[in-house]
Amino acid sequence: MVSVFVRSPVHINWRCRLETSMVRERQKKFLNIAHRGARSLAPENTLIAGKKAYEAGADMWEFDVQLTADRELVVVHDRTLNRTTNAEEVFPDRTNYRVDSFDLTEIKQLDAGSWFEAEDPFGEINRGNVSPAELQDFLGMKIPSLSEVLKLIKDLGWKANVELKPLEGPAATVENLASVMLRELLRLIKSLDMVDDVLVSSFDHSMVRELRKLNPDLTGALLQKEAIARPVEYLDANDVKILNLSASALETDRGFNNIREVDRAGEEYGVNVWTVNDPGKMKEAVSNKYLDGLITDYPARLSGIIAGQR
Ligand code: G3P
Ligand code: CA
Repeated sequence: MVSVFVRSPVHINWRCRLETSMVRERQKKFLNIAHRGARSLAPENTLIAGKKAYEAGADMWEFDVQLTADRELVVVHDRTLNRTTNAEEVFPDRTNYRVDSFDLTEIKQLDAGSWFEAEDPFGEINRGNVSPAELQDFLGMKIPSLSEVLKLIKDLGWKANVELKPLEGPAATVENLASVMLRELLRLIKSLDMVDDVLVSSFDHSMVRELRKLNPDLTGALLQKEAIARPVEYLDANDVKILNLSASALETDRGFNNIREVDRAGEEYGVNVWTVNDPGKMKEAVSNKYLDGLITDYPARLSGIIAGQR
């Protein structure tokens, strides 16, 4: 079977195979990062999904941040509200359901929880892994503001992976909105004294670079779907040391080289891989000495695997 995390034996040389099969030697804890919270068991990016991820033993909650029409920061993944809320029912006359065309007060009128029972997106309700009482709790859940999410994380003594969703539109508008987004994010982090508790990632690398200029104490990560030609140079050029790389990128030779090169750059550099739910792939990843963490929809499963391999 061809592995996602170790190159196929057809291509691999023996030295690489030995290296990748070695048990992790470094002292750093392998990071369990909950993708949009425990989104296999609760409506993604809601406070309940975050709490469930914490209870599952995740080290960090990864969630997506966007700007509303009135320039507030909210935690929601899709650009539009259609999939995870009842926006079409509550606002039937709207011509579009983009997050950035709704004010925060409008967004707060939406039910971002009921869709989960109707869709059962991971089949976990059908498998009996979500109780009727839990389903009841999901009804009427709100899209949280960034402030609410960070406060919950602060109260729990936990960590956040804030993913800033790239902005769209003419360059001048994007630049202006990015500045609003970054300054508000930094204001919140500072007011909650959470600089050491937050990792900020984005597919828009210029946003991460700008954020680091505004506050060099804040940790940034580059999100990448495809492997990069010279990863360490690229991270350095963007003033960050963490690469959040897609699992599919690791299926390529370049992806494999990326994790090895970043690992060799030093202890402070790291690679987290998204999104991995398969138990076999989780096991391989946890014992792969080049990787630092996984982003998963199943944080309880990953917790068990990490505990079993220690
Ligand atoms: O942060 C990793 C992953 O969440 C990026 O993709 O679409 O799930 O936000 P997406
Ligand atoms: Ca995300």
